Amino acid sequence: MELSEGILTPTRLIPEAADRPGDDPIFALHAEAVERARRGEDVLNSTIGALMEDDGRLAVLPSVFEAFRRVPPERAAAYAPISGPPAYLSAVVRDLFGDGPLAASAVGAATPGGTGACHHAIVNFLQPGQALLTGSYFWGPYKILAQHTGRRLVTFEMFAPDGRFHVEALRRGVERLLAEQGRVLLVLNTPCHNPTGYSLDDEDWRGVVDVLTAAAERGPVSLLLDLAYLHFAPPHDGAWLRHVPDLAGRAGLLFAWTASKAFAQYGARVGACIALEPDAEERQRVKNALGFSCRGTWSNCNHLGMLAVTELLSDPELHRRSDEERDRLRGLLAERVAAFNDLARRAGLRTPRYEGGFFVAVFSSEAEALCARAKQRGVFVVPLQGAVRVALCATPAAAIPRLVEALAG
Ligand SMILES: Cc1ncc(COP(=O)(O)O)c(C=O)c1O
Repeated sequence: MELSEGILTPTRLIPEAADRPGDDPIFALHAEAVERARRGEDVLNSTIGALMEDDGRLAVLPSVFEAFRRVPPERAAAYAPISGPPAYLSAVVRDLFGDGPLAASAVGAATPGGTGACHHAIVNFLQPGQALLTGSYFWGPYKILAQHTGRRLVTFEMFAPDGRFHVEALRRGVERLLAEQGRVLLVLNTPCHNPTGYSLDDEDWRGVVDVLTAAAERGPVSLLLDLAYLHFAPPHDGAWLRHVPDLAGRAGLLFAWTASKAFAQYGARVGACIALEPDAEERQRVKNALGFSCRGTWSNCNHLGMLAVTELLSDPELHRRSDEERDRLRGLLAERVAAFNDLARRAGLRTPRYEGGFFVAVFSSEAEALCARAKQRGVFVVPLQGAVRVALCATPAAAIPRLVEALAG
């Protein structure tokens, strides 16, 4: 066995794998909160990205379980097609774009959740060694996926001094990467960005389209729009769909779709990577590349889950029921968002514009210390670079005053 740099005992692992963190930091914090609660402490666990009822139980949609029950066992038990059942992919495309012209230029592959869609975008639209571009606050696994596949992640300053999305910083980031590596993969998570809660509005999107359109004239530019929280956006929030089509045919367009939040099915691992490509030849190439990546990673996805989600998206009655059930959960979340915004403003907390979604960030130059102090008071939140992430999805409405007090302290 060999000694790897920084490792004191011999290991058979390759150097890159010899010093990996054993647990995701957020899951580790969550586990600590659960353990302290088990020992009888009055703990407020605002760490994890799953929507909880106000009584602390995981929120679920009964219609989803009805859909699971409807799937014949002999279909569920069979291998799914490598890229996913065609009816499933069509249902996801309809969920994103309706039946209009955009749907006609969409192709995709099934993935285990949105995570798998991010993986496919990274390995097919960046060469080894190249970096993806995302905002300065980002979902941690983007970096893990990039590292694990021999790519990197670089960021642009996400917020301008006036608190808006920093289009000029994005422009500089895109230009720099285009000059350095000759291609760009931009990853944006909106609506309801994790970890800040920010949703790009029409003005932000006009800026993004402008930046990407200009860059795409000089090299291959792709946008991965991570729509993990799409179904929990405020009802008026369709900005992405009003602007993204302007990029079709100019920039590569990829969409990470997932049932994890949309159907409160985090464990089913049902998702898709959908691409919009008006050119038929390029569309076929992208479809082939995505399918190849499925075979080269997880082979095929959870057949039972995909068949159930197809039923949910295709059977009008079940579709209506799941929408109604989700609307109740959106209402629950909206109440928490309104209460948080009100109390946070009064306590002088600095947050981005926050109209809905699972998370919000509270800006802080001493995030680690603030989280440590909150933890001493039994309030668990997640430290980030320059901010603290608060999972309102997991915070009962009645606990929001306690949460804000801990964050203000
Ligand atoms: C920003 C973001 N993208 C993607 C995902 C993907 O989740 P999943 O793989 O469960 O669909 C998550 C889940 O927490 C997320 O927060």
